[in-house]
Amino acid sequence: MSAMSAMSAMSAMSALLGGKTNIRERYTLPAIALHWLLALLIIGMLLLGLYMVGIPKGTPDRAFYFNLHKSFGVLAGLLILFRLGWRLTHPIPQMPTGMPPGTARMIRWNHRLLYLCMVLQPATGYLSSSFNKYGVRFFGIAISNWGWEDQRIRDLFMNFHHLIAVLLVALIVIHVLAAFKHLLLDRDRIFQRMLP
Ligand code: HEM
Ligand code: HEM
Repeated sequence: MSAMSAMSAMSAMSALLGGKTNIRERYTLPAIALHWLLALLIIGMLLLGLYMVGIPKGTPDRAFYFNLHKSFGVLAGLLILFRLGWRLTHPIPQMPTGMPPGTARMIRWNHRLLYLCMVLQPATGYLSSSFNKYGVRFFGIAISNWGWEDQRIRDLFMNFHHLIAVLLVALIVIHVLAAFKHLLLDRDRIFQRMLP
């Protein structure tokens, strides 16, 4: 590896969710667009997941909603990877100067854990569905299946999928409550940084 690429790899690592900041007050438009698009998609996916598991087995309805969940899930996964790539290569606005370090640290950890769950959730869903005779269809197009029919592996990944869904909900609740606390109580313009 050349010295240049080693340095850029290091700066990407240091940028890992918070290291590299700039003095701009807002997130850039692509970051804002990706945030809101994915917020909508992920909340929709959580609701869809919870709804579809209650549909009786063997019905066409269940197959339809499961396929919808898998298709939007793969789409969300691709967008999440793109967003993470974008995030690691672009600076973000600095925390306001008066903010206590403890608060800044909590915000950073909330975001890091959100990103971690955002990557793991589609991955575990995809892996679980790969060890199933149905495989994964992306809006009707069959994605080549690396897995095989194996209930134990499928259940293992599905247990993670359920667990991460619970973690995601908890992180999102904290995240949204904190965002509104900044908007309504602290009035420190943190909320506005994520608005165009
Ligand atoms: C952002 C992405 C995703 C989110 C937020 C999400 C969320 C959820 C949730 C909340 C459930 C219901 C869990 C329960 O209460 O039992 C679920 C189930 C499921 N998900 Fe996902 N999911 C995502 C991506 C995917 C992907 C990409 C796939 C497959 C390609 C997938 C396949 C499944 C399957 C097959 C189930 C049903 C499992 C069962 O029969 O109990 N998910 N998902
Ligand atoms: C009503 C819902 C939501 C509101 C009001 C909201 C608000 C915000 C705000 C104001 C920020 C910027 C914080 C700062 O300046 O440091 C932010 C960042 C972030 N939000 Fe949300 N958010 C919402 C939903 C979501 C959801 C559903 C997710 C993902 C599951 C999410 C993931 C993130 C991440 C990862 C960041 C960090 C951005 C970065 O620095 O790369 N948000 N959100």
